[in-house]
Amino acid sequence: MSDNSDCLSVTCQASPNIALIKYWGKRNEELILPDNDSLSITLDLGELHSDTTVSTSSSMKCDTFYFDGIQQTKLSKRMQKVLDEVRRRANNDQIKFVEIRSHNTFPASSGLASSASAYASLAIALTKLFNLENPQSTAAYLARIGSGSAVRSVYGGFVRWSSEGECLSSCIYPVEHWPELRLIILIFNSSKKPVSSTDAMQRTRETSTLFQARLSTVNDKIEKLIQAIKIKDFNTFAKIVMMDSSQFHAVCMDTYPPVIYLNEQSKHLIDLVHAFNKTDENEMMKVAYTFDAGPNPFCFIREEHVDEFLSLLKHFYPSNNDNVHKQVSNIDGNFSSINLPIMANALERIVLTKIGSGPKII
Ligand code: DP6
Repeated sequence: MSDNSDCLSVTCQASPNIALIKYWGKRNEELILPDNDSLSITLDLGELHSDTTVSTSSSMKCDTFYFDGIQQTKLSKRMQKVLDEVRRRANNDQIKFVEIRSHNTFPASSGLASSASAYASLAIALTKLFNLENPQSTAAYLARIGSGSAVRSVYGGFVRWSSEGECLSSCIYPVEHWPELRLIILIFNSSKKPVSSTDAMQRTRETSTLFQARLSTVNDKIEKLIQAIKIKDFNTFAKIVMMDSSQFHAVCMDTYPPVIYLNEQSKHLIDLVHAFNKTDENEMMKVAYTFDAGPNPFCFIREEHVDEFLSLLKHFYPSNNDNVHKQVSNIDGNFSSINLPIMANALERIVLTKIGSGPKII
């Protein structure tokens, strides 16, 4: 915490999380209480993160918000809700207004869960700045009322968000549990998504009949996935993760009017991953994909297969942009058994990352 005259300030860095079992649907919009439990991994801070600095001083006349250094005309309703809750809990008349400065190292609204890292870093920074009681659960609560999935970015490792009781999150396995696990994020398209998750999940609740069927299967899937993570059974892990991603997108398709987040490239990647997994002599899976509310796949892979997968990507997604395939692969793969078209210049960026230990105050 830095203290300049009567100005106090705290900065927190947090990373996005990737849902292995998706959160989709709220039974309470205001408090953001989810319809189902979800499970995620929090990414390492290295590649992708949000930095949020919160400050307060007696001379401030209103709340202000700067995004990437640019002052925003007003705070969003959800950000205002978070600040009001902080003031209620801080119970300190000296503290009236807050300045928020936030920055992401990756494009907002691209299905890369930027709201999760942004609200988690905001929630933790505010909890620290105002010295709020029960800091972990308070930060989780504040993150959740900002954006549901942000509640999971408050912790590192494998995180479960419960849909019962207080509806907070907890770490079920720390980052050290499965150190060989890597994530390769393929950015096909970084532009804004057509329908926000908030609006789309509301529409799903109102119109989809598949949605109820999904809810009745989620807890069972979560228990099976936790067991697979426990014993590091990648085959079971991969199958459950890919099936939940597809079920989530099927529910989006069953929404009226339908919500379509996947694009041609996403479908190509799905076929590519299944074809690639079949190339293993022992039929062991090498890669699993999942898609959030966007066309960009998050691919889970063990370290030993990273090089081969990178050379597969170079083969099927050749690029004129030197930045795309900057991760060097030493393997010259033979992918002649995979009968899929080559998609030149489909990729904007590849991000190679891993599980992280959670947010930090800097
Ligand atoms: C598809 O957390 O962005 O990424 O709570 O309305 O802010 P709000 O929605 P948000 O939804 C994320 C949906 C998802 C799945 C997930 O992260 O679990």
